[in-house]
Amino acid sequence: MSGAVTGNSDADLVAAALAIRARAHAPYSRFAVGAALRASDGRVFLGVNVENASFPVGCCAERTALGTAVTEGASGFDLVVVATDAPVAVMPCGMCSQALYELARDARVIAVTTGGLRREAQVRELLPFAYDGEGLVQR
Ligand code: THU
Repeated sequence: MSGAVTGNSDADLVAAALAIRARAHAPYSRFAVGAALRASDGRVFLGVNVENASFPVGCCAERTALGTAVTEGASGFDLVVVATDAPVAVMPCGMCSQALYELARDARVIAVTTGGLRREAQVRELLPFAYDGEGLVQR
């Protein structure tokens, strides 16, 4: 399987995030990451990391999923799943944590590995000093 989402239970998102890793474009790190995001209307959006020969251009799986979800008009996310084959269950990086804070701050995070490890947290716990636009000029 790659790409199909069979349901929207927590277990379905875990399975989908693990499976979608197969579509990662990660020829440089060879570290494939899959993400699954559940919106308030029950829709599930998937993402993979998309790397680039100019390394900083690459995008993490979590932000790929967020971009797709927002493009499709989704909001009110309550769960994000991150899947890797690392020796620990990898939580979203700092940049993704900030992106999730913007769009999915009430969501729970489940990190899983192909080896069966699992770790959970809240998006709000990822970045204690997440930026919320303080000081931006109001228009
Ligand atoms: N990566 C993700 O996609 N999500 C994470 O949570 C951690 C890191 C990607 C970025 C890059 O393509 C590769 O993993 C190695 O850093």
